[in-house]
Amino acid sequence: MANRHIGFTETVLRDAQQSLIATRLPFSEMEPILSKLDAAGYHSLECWGGATFDVCMRFLDEDPWERLRKLRAGLPNTKLQMLLRGQNILGYKHYPDDIVRRFVKAAVKNGIDIIRIFDALNDVNNLKVAIETAVEAGAEASGAISYTTSPVHTREMYVNLAKEMVNMGCQSICIKDMAGILTPNNAYGLVAALKDALPDNVPVIMHTHSTAGMAFMTYMKGIEAGADVIDTAISPFSGGTSQPTTESLHVALTQMGYDTGLDEPTLYEIADYFKGVRAKFIEDGTLNPISMGTDTQCLNYQIPGGMLSNLLSQLKSLNASDKFDEALLETPRVREDLGFPPLVTPTSQLVGTQAVQNVLAGERYKNVGAEVKAYCRGEYGRTPAPINPEIQKLILGDEKPIEGRYADTLPTDTFEKAQAELGETARSEEDVLSYIAFPPVAEKFFETRKANEEKVAKYSIEKIED
Ligand code: CO
Repeated sequence: MANRHIGFTETVLRDAQQSLIATRLPFSEMEPILSKLDAAGYHSLECWGGATFDVCMRFLDEDPWERLRKLRAGLPNTKLQMLLRGQNILGYKHYPDDIVRRFVKAAVKNGIDIIRIFDALNDVNNLKVAIETAVEAGAEASGAISYTTSPVHTREMYVNLAKEMVNMGCQSICIKDMAGILTPNNAYGLVAALKDALPDNVPVIMHTHSTAGMAFMTYMKGIEAGADVIDTAISPFSGGTSQPTTESLHVALTQMGYDTGLDEPTLYEIADYFKGVRAKFIEDGTLNPISMGTDTQCLNYQIPGGMLSNLLSQLKSLNASDKFDEALLETPRVREDLGFPPLVTPTSQLVGTQAVQNVLAGERYKNVGAEVKAYCRGEYGRTPAPINPEIQKLILGDEKPIEGRYADTLPTDTFEKAQAELGETARSEEDVLSYIAFPPVAEKFFETRKANEEKVAKYSIEKIED
């Protein structure tokens, strides 16, 4: 009998660099290693979506769509994977259905093969359009369970969610443990339940973070229970708030009789290359060595690592670092009030900011942000448990929460309006989508793009005149 195959999804170009260096890896640092990455034998390369889209334009002066096309050209043999926030596409609020459709189609057209789709509340109404469009466009729709723990997040609830996603068209199911709180024992139970409930041709994928130090064991137990694919990061960008290590898992699993499909010497070449990249980011201070260590606070507070550092920096900027412990204790209370949302973009920001507000004001929900109000109105979807009615009343006053699906209430001419606003600045449908997702960021990016081109043009004219 052939050895059981375990696929590896390499995250260095997306989640690993997002977790360790705030998504600051420019394409120029990816380009030299693309041919090796393409030859390594990965199940897929996670390389786009998540925070990369925003950061490309905001901090790197890169067109995210152009980056995707270059990745596609440099990685002809490997499946390219992205992370999509369902109805939020790559932003922080819901977009109308036609925008979601256009965005998904454009991602596939520019080179994406696998779209991992999640919703912060695990509300399938926020996943449906993205899933259906991905399938129509010929991509693999991979449905992600935003994993969390709470009294309402039972194994049964997750299995039902996975079944619904498969019914909507998902060809694979991922357990997305963004906070690194999935324990080996819970992983075994959940993977076994999913494998039991789902059709045989639907692979179960595991995604976790090494933050709390359990990730290797979690994958091992998940694999024993039947998991088919794991997300890993090449060693220099692994561990800590990132994923567990690609090479180590390859060696360990191979010895145990699994087939990873990976070419070991190529992995070491890739690792050598990224050691050099990592050194630059340590040197310039972008990579904080603390984020590479083990931190069990996420187990204690059930808060993702990224959120902890956000809380701390929010408090620091307000000269209130001494309130950190209080804010940590307040966070799970806010989460409970809001119906136990999993803490992932954008709910992690929403819950964290409200916890900070409550602590700073010395009175709970005295100051409430626009996002939390929108959340209480139902604009983010159905919450896992009902929102505490007293808190909801306190926040909304006499305003009634919306009934039905928020996206259905959004205008249907968003694209045409954005196109008209941009005029000649937009050179493609993709430009318009960038602008709809991040209006001021995209506008600034378009200006810089034009200025850079004019500089180049001027330079070549001067050269001709010489
Ligand atoms: Co992640």
